[in-house]
Amino acid sequence: MANSNPEIKYTQIFINNEFVNAVSGKTFPTINPSTGKKIADIAEGDKADVDLAVKAAKAAFDRKSTWRQMDATARAKLLYKLAELMERDLHYLASLESLDNGKPYMNAVYEVYGSVYSLRYSAGWADKISGETVPSDGPHLTYTRKEPVGVVGQIIPWNYPMLMLSWKWGPALAMGCTIVMKPAEQTPLTALYLCSLAKEAGFPPGVINMVPGYGPTAGNAITVHPDIRKIAFTGSVEVGKIIMAGAAGTLKKVSLELGGKSPLVICDDVDVDEAAKIAYAGVFENMGQCCVAATRTFVQEGIYDAFVKKATELAQSRKVGCPFSQDTQHGPQVDETQFKKILGYIEIGKKEGAKLETGGGQVGTEGYFIQPTVFSNVTDEMTIAKEEIFGPVQSIIKFKTLDEVIERANSTQFGLAAGIVTKNIDNALVFSNAVEAGTVWVNTYLAGAAQAPFGGYKQSGIGREMGREGMELYLETKTVSIKLPSKV
Ligand code: NAI
Ligand code: MG
Repeated sequence: MANSNPEIKYTQIFINNEFVNAVSGKTFPTINPSTGKKIADIAEGDKADVDLAVKAAKAAFDRKSTWRQMDATARAKLLYKLAELMERDLHYLASLESLDNGKPYMNAVYEVYGSVYSLRYSAGWADKISGETVPSDGPHLTYTRKEPVGVVGQIIPWNYPMLMLSWKWGPALAMGCTIVMKPAEQTPLTALYLCSLAKEAGFPPGVINMVPGYGPTAGNAITVHPDIRKIAFTGSVEVGKIIMAGAAGTLKKVSLELGGKSPLVICDDVDVDEAAKIAYAGVFENMGQCCVAATRTFVQEGIYDAFVKKATELAQSRKVGCPFSQDTQHGPQVDETQFKKILGYIEIGKKEGAKLETGGGQVGTEGYFIQPTVFSNVTDEMTIAKEEIFGPVQSIIKFKTLDEVIERANSTQFGLAAGIVTKNIDNALVFSNAVEAGTVWVNTYLAGAAQAPFGGYKQSGIGREMGREGMELYLETKTVSIKLPSKV
């Protein structure tokens, strides 16, 4: 069950299946966002530690290593075992995440379930990826092999720490790569505990390595390391660009899952209450700290006023409080930086003329809680309609026609997700085809599936994680031609 004071078992860097201090001896605090107080000191990795982790991962990837000699079905078995151990420790993991990240306990429980589900999905691919026989000219037998890309660097954010880890570990391990990962500095605790579970599951030393630390130090060392062949990153567009530039020096393969300013279009043929509920969940889920958050709510003029009224009521009904209280729906923002940034955007929204319908301020005096906030009369030019806020702020924008709203939905550099709520099948299809987004939801929002590829158009990213395409990120293709005695 929920435990607001879970034992902190692991705070060190994980290399070669051992927990060790940073070479520098440095540590950094991880903070409880509900109180602003320190939970624990974590070993602070930097270049020296990344070098050691890469050395371990490289040795584990040696062609004669246990890992490389292992059958694909055995790799899958290790992943299934890890998933099973996560289920065993469900309540501990969820408690640890609620403490470190601030998300309501039940949301953390769902995150564990989602992580388990995605690990099992990836495990299933381990022995199902194959090359092909190629009908080449001449007396040759030509075929392709799908081989693991090698040591991979993975850098993850703090909004869904366990899910983002699973989305990156699962495909990389199923395909036979070895890993050096950096968790977000705000949320290192579950990542370190999951390393202990990976060891318990039986992953050989060096296959999984975890170096907590900061972006410009540990993160950069991963990005530029010559022995890392691929980098997978989830986080801000700004850092995505830094990583792509940093990876250029060693021509690493790069996959990026970045931010968004996702449009959700509500047509006037729908039930206003139902539509408002979809929009509410789409924007306030995880305190608005969601890459796909529906932060541009476009509502057709005929139902605009009724929608604003309902959206305001829903936001006001949202229960903000301690992540460990049973009735809490909404916890604190992850840290002080995000908290201040969001309140800053709210001030800009007011200044630029949006109408604050509800919220707008801090809840209580301790920790980083922000009221669910609704703005109406938002226009496309306003900062709050253009920039990713990553907080509980809904911007309701008016539109007249579907054609017009498609243009407006697409007039952004982002393209992660989009949604439409309508009873008109033609509108749903036209919008789904025309909108520039990696994921489109119709009459729902946030429905996720490990089986489906996920990623962004435009500056929302490069590549697709999960689904079959997610496996390809971790593979090289090799063509082999063998001389035959004759063509037949
Ligand atoms: P961030 O992009 O700075 O952090 C994500 C990860 O990248 C963390 O592990 C961080 O340590 C690492 N990192 C930072 N600088 C790096 C560098 N120079 N080299 C290598 N790794 C580096 O995101 P941050 O600062 O936590 O949040 C800022 C904004 O980013 C948020 O307000 C939100 O708009 C967006 N964001 C988007 C996420 C998504 O899911 N797409 C997740 C987290 C943040
Ligand atoms: Mg940052």
